[in-house]
Amino acid sequence: MQTEFVAARERFRYATPDDLPAIVGMLQEEAVGRWLFFLPAPVAALEAYLGPLIEAQGRELGEGSLPAGATFVVEDLEGGFLGMAAALGVDGSPGGFEIGYQLAEASWGRGVGTRSARFVAAWAVYLQQAYRLEASLLAGNEASRKILSGVGLVEEGRRPGYRLKDGVRHTQLLYGAVIDEALRARLAPDARQAGLLT
Ligand SMILES: CC(C)(COP(=O)(O)OP(=O)(O)OC[C@H]1O[C@@H](n2cnc3c(N)ncnc32)[C@H](O)[C@@H]1OP(=O)(O)O)[C@@H](O)C(=O)NCCC(=O)NCCS
Repeated sequence: MQTEFVAARERFRYATPDDLPAIVGMLQEEAVGRWLFFLPAPVAALEAYLGPLIEAQGRELGEGSLPAGATFVVEDLEGGFLGMAAALGVDGSPGGFEIGYQLAEASWGRGVGTRSARFVAAWAVYLQQAYRLEASLLAGNEASRKILSGVGLVEEGRRPGYRLKDGVRHTQLLYGAVIDEALRARLAPDARQAGLLT
């Protein structure tokens, strides 16, 4: 089973337990946590959430299976750590995948977020034949909202005051889309570039 996908400017590699320190370290950066409802969080809590996901995909890959959900490390082509991106199955929504991406602050502002989101969306659509894609974000996370719109997701709902973070209530935006031919076509160049579609 292929364990990494090399696009023009980044490499997306299924995360392994060895990647946990870099991922957790990135999630400890104050700027990274600005719009993430689950941050700040203790290292142990982040490891307890991410560790089992990464171990499960490792077991599936070890058995030669495509992981049911994927957490990727995003690297530059020299292997430098940029961040992580994920496409995880949505409980209770067969064929539904939630996409997410978190990058170290040093990686921001040069399109890595856009390309990472498009990669995980393409992975879900082209390798998993996803029926739906979705993502949730806090209102105000403008970079992430632009990225999701660019992928082709639309605002499907909002939950005013849903998240309480650092004593402040935030509105949660729910973005999503059913996969249709137009969305497949929009993601095709990213899929092709990463070798998901030949
Ligand atoms: C959100 C995040 C992934 C963006 O990554 P990035 O590599 O800087 O994003 P890009 O360079 O691809 O920019 C995406 C778009 O957002 C815009 N943008 C970037 N920072 C912005 C900001 N602070 N305010 C408004 N727009 C911004 C870019 O101009 C670009 O817009 P365009 O498509 O119209 O050109 C990154 O900031 C991050 O990891 N943040 C912390 C974790 C997080 O919030 N993840 C998302 C959870 S929902």
